[in-house]
Amino acid sequence: MTGTLQLPKVASDLDNYFTREEKRIRAELDDFLRIPSVSARSEHKADTARCADWLAAKIRGAGMDATVHATPGHPIVIGEWRKAGASAPTVLIYGHYDVQPVEPLDLWTSPPFEPTVRDGKLFARGSVDDKGQLWIHVKAAEAMLKQRGRLPANVVFLFEGEEEVGSDNLAGFVARNATMLRADSVVISDSSMFGPGQPSILSSLRGLAYFQIDVQGPAQDLHSGGYGGAVVNPAMALARILATMHDTKGHVAIEGFYDEVREWDKKSRDAIRKLPFVETKFLDETGASALSGEEGYTTLERLWMRPTCEVNGLLSGYTGEGAKTVLPAKAMAKVSCRLVPDQDPAEIARRFEAHVNRVKPKGVSVRVQYIHGGKPWRAELSGPLYDAARRALTAAFGKEPVVVGEGGSIPVVGDFDRVLKAPVLLMGFGLPGENAHAPNEWISLENFTKGLRAVATLYEEIGK
Ligand code: BES
Ligand code: MN
Ligand code: MN
Repeated sequence: MTGTLQLPKVASDLDNYFTREEKRIRAELDDFLRIPSVSARSEHKADTARCADWLAAKIRGAGMDATVHATPGHPIVIGEWRKAGASAPTVLIYGHYDVQPVEPLDLWTSPPFEPTVRDGKLFARGSVDDKGQLWIHVKAAEAMLKQRGRLPANVVFLFEGEEEVGSDNLAGFVARNATMLRADSVVISDSSMFGPGQPSILSSLRGLAYFQIDVQGPAQDLHSGGYGGAVVNPAMALARILATMHDTKGHVAIEGFYDEVREWDKKSRDAIRKLPFVETKFLDETGASALSGEEGYTTLERLWMRPTCEVNGLLSGYTGEGAKTVLPAKAMAKVSCRLVPDQDPAEIARRFEAHVNRVKPKGVSVRVQYIHGGKPWRAELSGPLYDAARRALTAAFGKEPVVVGEGGSIPVVGDFDRVLKAPVLLMGFGLPGENAHAPNEWISLENFTKGLRAVATLYEEIGK
């Protein structure tokens, strides 16, 4: 591939700007990370709104226009610079400024909202997911505007505050503002590289369908001696329901679950096999004693190519110290299905509910709620946008990118495809072990620095 591509260098004026301004760029990122924009928590609603205003002000400081759009949930921040002219391409950059909750707090080495550097890593909630990566885009645009007074393409930022809670209000916003958001390409940095020093382009994201199952037994907790054995136990009923979700080979046993799954071609599967994936390292990362999953697939295939059904949380009965003999009144589970093309979250929700209703034991009442969902996505991986990304990443990292899949979800990506009809590029700067959503989240400072160069070069390449 190298032979056919004329490889660009990172422009020296931008490189110098990043070197010269590095301290300030990082100090501002620290300020960004100090705002606890936890979208899931109502006690942080004002912080999340403040974060949106702060971000809009910084975008203005970078030399772009910015507006904050209220939604029934958290605000959407739009940044715009459209002076490249009508004949120049327009690129839409998506990111999210909201973060996941931080609990359990006692497992953080330094507090989640006090950014701290250790060992070349910047630790803070949101450092990699996604404030640090979003910041790379804001500062790449700033560098060009400050150095040259212009951007090589029209650039629109779309930064939301609800990604970590399912992006409920974004699809509607995108649909209503399709004209304003019209773009020739969409770029997202909210994912990870395959390994240190190995830039990566994403070929796929899984979708999601998230459920809560509530099982109600007796009207209140009962003495497990006085009633146990004669009354249906809701915790056991729920366990039975959950145990029907898979067969003995690790396939999801919900009827029709795989009907819409698009088979991956041999070439894509071969490409996955060729990646230097070290299973023992992956196992070490998890701290689990063994890996396991659907029969007939490798670990990376299980993560990137296959849909799942997983329990995310369970609650029932007595969980305190020692023993309490009690037959619980109710039991609850949070269950999520990760989806792959062409599974549809609403259709999977229908099948999931039908399955639970079919297998639910008598003597309890069972309620299934569909909480949120997002469509899966696969990239086209060819065309000028992808050529530009390969060149930009190679210039900044000194190494050609690999193509990788992803097991996580970014709900809006499927909507970009459908509503904006523009190619989407996911090029992220996280790393394995970055602890996203977990205690001690970090971003590699080397990746942050090279990411600035890669993104600025990408904008240049897109403008060519
Ligand atoms: N940035 C992640 C998605 C992701 C994870 C991409 C890992 C690449 C690698 C995103 O912020 C995320 O966490 N998404 C949620 C979506 C959900 C809350 C609707 C997810 O995947 O669980
Ligand atoms: Mn993210
Ligand atoms: Mn996330």
